[in-house]
Amino acid sequence: MSHRSIQVVDHPLVQHKLTLLRRKDVSTMSFRHLLHEIAMLMAYEITRDMPTSMIEIDTPLERMHSPVIDGKKTVFVVVMRAGSGFLDGMLDVVPGARVGHVGLFRDPQSLQAVEYYFKVPDGMPERDAIVLDPMLATGNSAVAAVTRLKATRPRSIRFVSLLAAPEGLNTFHDAHPDVTVYTAAIDRCLNEHGYILPGLGDAGDRLFGTR
Ligand code: URA
Repeated sequence: MSHRSIQVVDHPLVQHKLTLLRRKDVSTMSFRHLLHEIAMLMAYEITRDMPTSMIEIDTPLERMHSPVIDGKKTVFVVVMRAGSGFLDGMLDVVPGARVGHVGLFRDPQSLQAVEYYFKVPDGMPERDAIVLDPMLATGNSAVAAVTRLKATRPRSIRFVSLLAAPEGLNTFHDAHPDVTVYTAAIDRCLNEHGYILPGLGDAGDRLFGTR
């Protein structure tokens, strides 16, 4: 399948909170809180077409068939380390989901993404994977994370970022045209250091207060 799908989550609440979070004077605590809230709101869009099945329940008045999701079939795959800032908000909305982790670093010589950690639940062919990485910048780590994940043959894969650069979207969809990217905004471009402009700086540092 080749459709290069991009979904910009342009809900006013998401856009408002993104504006607050981008500002350079936002504290670590507020940055974390806003990212948590945005993750909850984005989860609503990302899971819009989640499969449901009917179960029989009793209301106080009568028996009925009513839809439920099987949250355990969803796996949030955190791309370390900034991806973890998205996780708790997503789990608030899909509490039964499983969680996987991918750790990648950029080799300073080759500039390629090198894997140092990978752990996902068993039974991936029965699960829908939602990859979490707030900054889709060059796209190299996103491509590597999804390539590695595809080797486990999940039933479906979606990629969720907060901000995406056009360069990163092109690189990502050249490699993975079948994976829909959800993002809150597509920014202008990358600078010479691979940072998104106007962006928000280093998401990991702002999330964890490491700079
Ligand atoms: N990673 C970040 O945290 N910020 C960017 O702008 C690009 C990559």
